[in-house]
Amino acid sequence: AASNVVNIVEVGPRDGLQNEKGVIPVSVKSELINRLVDAGALLVEAGSFVSPKWVPQMAGTGEVLQGIRQKPGVHFPVLVPNQKGLENLLELLSTHSNSPVPLTDEIAIFAAASDAFTKANLNLATIAESLARLEPVARAALDKGLRVRGYVSVVVHCPFSGKVDPKVVKDVTAALRNMGCYEVSLGDTVGRARPHEVAEVLEEVKKVVPVNMLAGHFHDTFGTAVANVMTALSHGIRTIDASVGGLGGCPYSPGATGNVATEDVLYALKDSEYSVAGGVNGTIDLDKMVNIGWWISEQLGRESISRAGRGVKAR
Ligand code: HMG
Ligand code: MG
Repeated sequence: AASNVVNIVEVGPRDGLQNEKGVIPVSVKSELINRLVDAGALLVEAGSFVSPKWVPQMAGTGEVLQGIRQKPGVHFPVLVPNQKGLENLLELLSTHSNSPVPLTDEIAIFAAASDAFTKANLNLATIAESLARLEPVARAALDKGLRVRGYVSVVVHCPFSGKVDPKVVKDVTAALRNMGCYEVSLGDTVGRARPHEVAEVLEEVKKVVPVNMLAGHFHDTFGTAVANVMTALSHGIRTIDASVGGLGGCPYSPGATGNVATEDVLYALKDSEYSVAGGVNGTIDLDKMVNIGWWISEQLGRESISRAGRGVKAR
C-alpha cells in the first residue's frame, strides 16, 4: 500500500513572489526561505534563473541563494528555462565551490501541455520545440550532479487555447521523465480545474509514469485547490506544491491567483490518515507557517489570503 506521508514543496519564494510588481529586497526573500526551513519545510523553491526582462522579480536569485542558511537534507531548487540559465547557475556554483554545502543541488525545468502557453511562457512556438530545447539542459544539469525536477503547466485548462487533452499532458510528462526528472509536477496554472478533471488527467498520466514520480501543483483562482489536493492524494499522489500565505500566480496566466496556501494544506491534513513530512518534530509546523504567511503578506503590504491563516489568527 502507498505510504500516507505527504511531501510539501514550498513554492512561495518563487511562484509566490515572481508576479509581485513592487521591488522585494533580497534580504526579505532570503529571510522568507530561512523562516520556511525553520518551520520544517524540506524543499523550498528559492527563485529562477530566467530572463530578468521577462520576470524582473526573480533577478536577484543568485544573491537570495547566498543568504540561505543551509540545512542538511533540505533542498533549494531554482527554475531554469534554458542553457543560458543553467550556465548562469553553474557559474555561481563554481564561485562558491569552496563552501562545504553547495548553494543548491537542484533545478526545475518547465514545459506546458499547449503550444499557446509554451509561446507565452518560453517564447517557443511548439511543445515539441520546448522539449527539444530542455533535453540538453536536463542532461547537462544531471552531468553536473544536480537533481532535476520537471513541471508541466496548463494540465487542465490553457488560458489561451481552452481545455487541454489529458493525452497531451501524458506525453509531455513522459518526455520530462525520460529526460531524467526525478519527479514531474502537474500544474493547474490557471487555477480553475475541478476535482473530476484532476482525477481524469491523473489517471491518464499514471498509465505511463509511476504515481510516486508525480506531484500536484494547484493554483486557487476558483477556490478548488484544496479539493484538488485531496483528489490528487486519493489518486496516489504524495507530493503537493504549495505557497505560504497563498502567494503567487504566473505572469503568463492572466488573472490566475496564487497556489494553494501551505497553511490550508497543513490544516486540511492535520489529524487525518495522512501525515506531512518535515523538519520540525518530523512535520511542518502549522502555527509557524501561519505566522510566516502573515509576515510575508505584511512585507507586501497586505493581509494573508490563506483561509486557514486567517482562521487561526481569528481564533
Ligand atoms: P527570449 O527573449 O526568447 O530569449 O526569452 P533569447 O534567448 O532570445 O534571449 C534574449 C535575452 O535574454 C538575451 O539578452 C539573453 O542573454 C537573455 P540580451 O542579449 O538581449 O541582453 N537571456 C537570459 N538572461 C538570464 N537568464 C536566462 C536567459 N535566457 C536568455 N535564462 C526565455 C526566452 C526562456 C529566456 C524567456 O521566455 C524566459 O525567461 N521565460 C521564463 C518565464 C518564467 O519564468 N515564467 C514563470 C515560471 S513558470 C510558472 O510559473 C509555472 C509553474 O509555476 C507551474 C504552473 O503553475 O503551471 C512552474
Ligand atoms: Mg505555478
